Amino acid sequence: MRRKLVVGNWKMNGNRAANASLLAGIVAGANGSNASCAVCAPAPYLAQCQDALSASPVAWGAQDVSAQPGGAFTGEVAAAMLADFACKYVIVGHSERRAYHGESSELVAKKAVAVLDAGMTPIVCVGETLAEREAGQTAAVVSSQLGAVLDLVGERVAQIVVAYEPVWAIGTGKTATPAMAQEVHAQLRAQLMAKNAVAAETVQILYGGSMKPDNALELMAQPDIDGGLIGGAALKAADFLAILNAAN
Ligand code: G3P
Repeated sequence: MRRKLVVGNWKMNGNRAANASLLAGIVAGANGSNASCAVCAPAPYLAQCQDALSASPVAWGAQDVSAQPGGAFTGEVAAAMLADFACKYVIVGHSERRAYHGESSELVAKKAVAVLDAGMTPIVCVGETLAEREAGQTAAVVSSQLGAVLDLVGERVAQIVVAYEPVWAIGTGKTATPAMAQEVHAQLRAQLMAKNAVAAETVQILYGGSMKPDNALELMAQPDIDGGLIGGAALKAADFLAILNAAN
């Protein structure tokens, strides 16, 4: 039985004052949840998350990481630095990184390994664009994105989280129907299964893309949808907690 996981991806939003009130709201409502929950904040606010969340059941994490261990890489943040702030999760391969920063699946795989090496859990994002879906390429695209990571993580497949985020559903208000999402999640599970059948049973596969309080329950009721990676709705404590509640 997989525990549900709800993760907020704040993207490039927030400031110290807004974060303080958002974090306090989440902490106040997250106690007693049967589902796990975390927020992935912009790097400058990880210390603030650590301070606010250490005594709570809410974990925190980052939205990206360098594949390099350290050194002369101006502007980059190493996995060891994120671990230094007790991050539990690091998102890798978000479609916004792939699209705006040209990240390849091979680079995403190296980042996933860097996260694992530093003792944290990578949340590996995969997802097709609208053009790819309309061309009937969804299965091939997500399989190649996940495959690159599975090739590099080797036996550590049980230590990753996967997030299926159809690009056309991100921030658009268009959500994949539960059946559409389940179809892709089942395919991803089968791919994990082919790599390691035991691990595949435990890997959480999250759905992301306009998940909101009013559609979360139906999505997370699908057998292979183990939680959500939430963008816009993670910026309001009440909405985020309503989704967490739907995961219970
Ligand atoms: O990583 C979360 C994400 O991309 C979904 O964003 O705003 O559609 O929930 P949103």
